[in-house]
Amino acid sequence: MKLNAIIDCDPGHDDVMAILLAGRTMNLCGITTVHGNASLENTTYNARQVVEFADLTSVPIAKGNARPLVRNPQYAPAVHGETGLDGPNMAPPTVALHPRNAVDFILESSHTIPDLHLLPIGPLTNIAAALNLDPTLPQRVKQISLMGGSLTWGNITPAAEFNIYCDPEAAHVVFTSGIPIKMIGLNATHQVLARPEYRRRVRSIGSTTSTHVADMLDFYSRGESGGTGLEGGAMHDPLAVAALIDPEILTFEPMHVAVEYVGSRTAGMTLCDGRHLGTDFRAAKARRRGEPPNAEVAIIANEKRFWELFLDILATYP
Ligand code: RIB
Ligand code: CA
Repeated sequence: MKLNAIIDCDPGHDDVMAILLAGRTMNLCGITTVHGNASLENTTYNARQVVEFADLTSVPIAKGNARPLVRNPQYAPAVHGETGLDGPNMAPPTVALHPRNAVDFILESSHTIPDLHLLPIGPLTNIAAALNLDPTLPQRVKQISLMGGSLTWGNITPAAEFNIYCDPEAAHVVFTSGIPIKMIGLNATHQVLARPEYRRRVRSIGSTTSTHVADMLDFYSRGESGGTGLEGGAMHDPLAVAALIDPEILTFEPMHVAVEYVGSRTAGMTLCDGRHLGTDFRAAKARRRGEPPNAEVAIIANEKRFWELFLDILATYP
């Protein structure tokens, strides 16, 4: 039984991987776009290109917020390029946008789609705006699986991961909403990389989609590796999808997560109360302290199993 899902994203190379994985393994009821890796205009243009080359044009795309709730927008051209999806040579999109904006689309969908799962994989502005507009939304959302934050350290600052750093006020609204949350943070996503061997296997599929994806992963890995020194780009966003479709890929630990939005050096930090964990962050039986858990935090990822799934799914696209 496929789960009903809406992906809220800022394509973004790894966002594309999430859309492709969800397009075959979930009942993808919609894609909503948000500022983040690039401007809203660019992330929305990129999302339209993806659904066209992947033949997913039956999935509606609704355009969201162009800027965070409070702060100024910031983008990530060093990793994703000026367009937000540099690398592949794709045709300009022709598919029309949904007539509703992302927030209204999410709220209307919550009234018509049962057991709705939200998968935010960019800054949380749209989700927070929907919660602020209709505080009853949590009664109609089964679960949020989000890529963001970290149990350990960030990628924009030592404390903050990009999606949370861009709009920490929005993240605070989401993490205090009461909706069940799976948080897939950098501590887990950096365990799953687009290593050269995996990129070779993607390109060897030989389809239009896999060639675009290989070009994306090559470009993205150059940018990510330039920052992390790791041997490939981390598969951040598709892991938020994998968390809901294959329980063997990620291991979670319930924790309280607080979002820091005041600190001069820590703004954007997801402060996870893991004091009951062992020193290797593996679940230990130490005594829990502090506030009760409001999220399941990913602590271990199975890279091999992820890539077996992703390559199988990729091979089904034109
Ligand atoms: O920090 C990684 C996250 O920021 C990913 O969602 C990536 O697409 C960027 O949005
Ligand atoms: Ca993203």
